[in-house]
Amino acid sequence: MLTQAPKGTRDILPAEIYKWQHIEKAIAGLCRSFGYKEIRIPVFEHTELFQRGVGDTTDIVQKEMYTFLDKSGRSISLRPEGTAGVVRSYIENGMSSLPQPIKLYYNITAYRYENVQKGRYREFHQFGVEAFGATGPSTDVEIISILAMLFDRLDIKQIGLNINSIGCPKCREAYNDKLSEYFRSSLQELCENCRNRYERNPLRIIDCKERQCKTYIKDAPMLDNLCGECTSHFEGLKAGLENLGIDYKVDKNIVRGLDYYTKTVFEFVSENVGTQGTICGGGRYDGLVETCGGAAAPGIGFGLGIERLLLEMESQNILIPQPDGLDLYIAVLGEKAAGFAQKLVYKLRSQGIGADTDHMSKSLKAQMKYADKMGFTYIVVLGEDEIDSNKAVLKNMISGEQKDVSLDSIIERMKIQGK
Ligand code: HAM
Repeated sequence: MLTQAPKGTRDILPAEIYKWQHIEKAIAGLCRSFGYKEIRIPVFEHTELFQRGVGDTTDIVQKEMYTFLDKSGRSISLRPEGTAGVVRSYIENGMSSLPQPIKLYYNITAYRYENVQKGRYREFHQFGVEAFGATGPSTDVEIISILAMLFDRLDIKQIGLNINSIGCPKCREAYNDKLSEYFRSSLQELCENCRNRYERNPLRIIDCKERQCKTYIKDAPMLDNLCGECTSHFEGLKAGLENLGIDYKVDKNIVRGLDYYTKTVFEFVSENVGTQGTICGGGRYDGLVETCGGAAAPGIGFGLGIERLLLEMESQNILIPQPDGLDLYIAVLGEKAAGFAQKLVYKLRSQGIGADTDHMSKSLKAQMKYADKMGFTYIVVLGEDEIDSNKAVLKNMISGEQKDVSLDSIIERMKIQGK
């Protein structure tokens, strides 16, 4: 136990961190181009925020949250996603009085007590984007185009985009009636959660993963009657995507696992990322700010699982460039050389050059082996002779080339090499 990370969590080790940094860099660059600014939100919030925001009939809130009482007896939950926290921050920080739309992005960890399997963890990483204040479909198109461009920048091919509209509360009223009618006769066969959902939010039944419910869900009626406003919004979204050359499919089965969505919902899917297949999901939530206690404001966003994105990149054999090793290793023989090297390394580092020397009184052979393993580009060996004569041999570990150099010139040389 003591030496094992809790189930569903894992370390991201130095040997693989460059992959994450590569993705984070692409995200930051892209968000800058699209005018989205980074926001950092707390890891935990009052449980009530998620009950109201994500919805207390969802699987996430009913089954998957890490909830506990803090020492003052308040109910606290680890964030199972980012949208609710960002909405809380939008309200708390009076962002509605700033020029709209407000465009935000975040890279967060999120926590869900789920069955662990490929692409499904209990702690996972999400890149998310939220835009507040704009009602028209052009923001929906913009949000989706961020993802299309991210996949393109990362060389990822063929991830299917599925879109749907789940309408506004007005269109949903009639649909909920249809669903109630449909599920009435099988109510006793549904799981306990769904029997409860039947009374409070029949649409949620559609997303249930229990086997006993799935039998009835597959023939349930679809939402095919949108009101005029939702229809024209959906048409606007499709036209916008076509305008940008972004391929999509309309998938009437997308309902999403969170309660806040209105109108547009979408998912990017691939069979490479586990049985659930969703790399990214999102949609519009025009009622959420008000539900969470703010003045009504429309919003739309998405969350993308970084672990699933990496799984997809692996399946597509996309090579992420590995960063180079440090620039110079100074191997030393004897105490005088060690003191000299200590100072030289310090000066090199102050010039932004990656340099290191021995810290373990290793033999020269062991130092050379270490430098080779760690991928240093250059190596120089210093002993008393080199220091007295102000001369040493600088070896390029990649080309094998060796050069006699004066010790005084090493910093300048390395500066030039580093450019
Ligand atoms: P979500 O569909 O629940 O939406 O999650 C978004 C993405 O997070 C998923 O597509 C998946 O890649 C990743 N993800 C979710 N659960 C796990 C897990 N257990 N293990 C690994 N990855 C996971 C949301 O969270 C919404 N907040 C998205 C959103 C933002 N909608 C509007 N704005």
